[in-house]
Amino acid sequence: MPQKAPKFLDHIERMAGYIPGEQPRQADIVKLNTNENPYPPPPSVLERVREAATQDLRKYPDAAASGVRERLSRLLGGSPDNFVIGNGSDELLNVILRCFAGPGDLVTFPWPTYPYYDKLIDLQQAKPHPVPLDDDFQVAIDDLVHPESRITLLANPNSPTGIGLSRESIDELASRCSGILVVDEAYVDFSAGGAIEIAQKHPHVIVTRTLSKSFSLAGVRVGFAYAHPTLIAGLWKVKEHYNVSSLSQVAAEAALDDIDVMRVNAERIIATRMRLSNELRTRGFFVWSSEANFVLARIPVGDAGHVGDAQPLFEALKERGYLVRHYGQQPRLSDCLRISIGSDEQIDGLLDTLDHVVEGD
Ligand SMILES: Cc1ncc(COP(=O)(O)O)c(C=O)c1O
Repeated sequence: MPQKAPKFLDHIERMAGYIPGEQPRQADIVKLNTNENPYPPPPSVLERVREAATQDLRKYPDAAASGVRERLSRLLGGSPDNFVIGNGSDELLNVILRCFAGPGDLVTFPWPTYPYYDKLIDLQQAKPHPVPLDDDFQVAIDDLVHPESRITLLANPNSPTGIGLSRESIDELASRCSGILVVDEAYVDFSAGGAIEIAQKHPHVIVTRTLSKSFSLAGVRVGFAYAHPTLIAGLWKVKEHYNVSSLSQVAAEAALDDIDVMRVNAERIIATRMRLSNELRTRGFFVWSSEANFVLARIPVGDAGHVGDAQPLFEALKERGYLVRHYGQQPRLSDCLRISIGSDEQIDGLLDTLDHVVEGD
């Protein structure tokens, strides 16, 4: 008998999958498209991972990731019960949506932002409530407050803009918003912000962070959430029990033990970000003031006085070995490129290449 094509649940059938940033195979391409860190993690991470690669890998990892949670509580405050560790912060965002948003529930978020939120909302059959950023791509707190919202998602600093909202504004949002407020701080170490103190005051606030960006460990997949222990205990029920591999836990512990390396690298990235922003501005780009490890740049206004499509520039840079991010599907961003901050050498190369492209070489 012929087999019928498998039928997915209707809402899965309907939804488009998330498209992660391109991970090209060529080793010689300069990747400035997914906000990875150009600097390596401290050598101690590699040493300890090598030491941990023993016969003991036959055992399951610590389901509680106790070593990572203890270190985080020492570094950031609170107790280990305030933390849950995820397979990247993406896993924790997924767990939060599964915990708090069911079919038809309203989930509010500024738009544009991290596009994964949309997919998680679709998976839950929840109702997205995107709040457009204003003309300067700033978040308007008043518009984010919605009495029926089950979850408000705020990437701070935001992606792809790099713009950060002040602690006072987040505190105000926490006081006014209903349901759960998630402050996604994937890029916080490149900013002067941080909402952990706000989560200490407000039991409905969850802060998520990651070791993917500032700690140079995107391949290891470790993120964490900080919240009141009651919230953390609930999230715990939903996460995969052995969600963080033993080797990932060892790498995360080593990176946290050597946290000064992260801080030095973040400072270098901030300095390069300033330099890149200024260089682009002198070339006629509009560059939003970023608090993250990337900048959003609008291509120069053309002779006819209108801004164009950044796709040809994206393609020209890619052909010459520089991969940045272009959001062709989003009308408000089609004239912009998001550029991750690479090493000084990579950014010099990018600027040179840009000049050649503009001169038509
Ligand atoms: C705003 C934001 N949140 C979360 C993440 C996911 O990070 P992780 O690697 O920890 O899953 C990203 C990754 O690009 C991001 O841009």
